[in-house]
Amino acid sequence: MIIKNSIEGSFHLTGGDFTNAGIASSELKSILTELGLDDNVIRRAAIATFEAEMNVIIHAIAGTIYYSIMPEHIKIIVNDMGPGIEDIELAMQEGYSTAPDWVREMGWGAGMGLPNMKKNSDEFKIDSVVGEGTTVEIIINIKQGLR
Ligand SMILES: Nc1ncnc2c1ncn2[C@@H]1O[C@H](COP(=O)(O)OP(=O)(O)OP(=O)(O)O)[C@@H](O)[C@H]1O
Ligand SMILES: [Mg+2]
Repeated sequence: MIIKNSIEGSFHLTGGDFTNAGIASSELKSILTELGLDDNVIRRAAIATFEAEMNVIIHAIAGTIYYSIMPEHIKIIVNDMGPGIEDIELAMQEGYSTAPDWVREMGWGAGMGLPNMKKNSDEFKIDSVVGEGTTVEIIINIKQGLR
């Protein structure tokens, strides 16, 4: 499978909208599957995007997922308007979560989303401004042998 030009798109996310949770990441997964990308690349992109999508729905007010699929890698940027993260190093630790009880009762809030995003990415960046919002950038290499 050869991608010649980049394929780009975006999805809008609404904080608190659990009804539609997971739709954006599963649509991206379908696009990657139709392109015939490697199963492992698709799986990692889907997991990382799903965790980022859930974080916007759980923790933020609204956000956007931007994806671009390039010949060598997939870039996923998830940007939100929300409370931001005060201590990113702490937020990146496995098991750290500020999710309220009602979110935990739905099965979220194990504090594993950010560590999972990082684990499934070839490059992972997170930036946040308290009171404004958070941006995560996920890069997944497409070419075999790069990971
Ligand atoms: N987009 C975001 N906006 C504001 N805070 C966030 C955002 N993403 C993560 N956080 C903060 O970082 C913490 C850790 O995030 P992480 O995704 O690892 O766990 P979680 O979302 O709490 O639980 P899980 O992902 O396991 O359901 C969150 O509890 C929250 O405090
Ligand atoms: Mg999470």
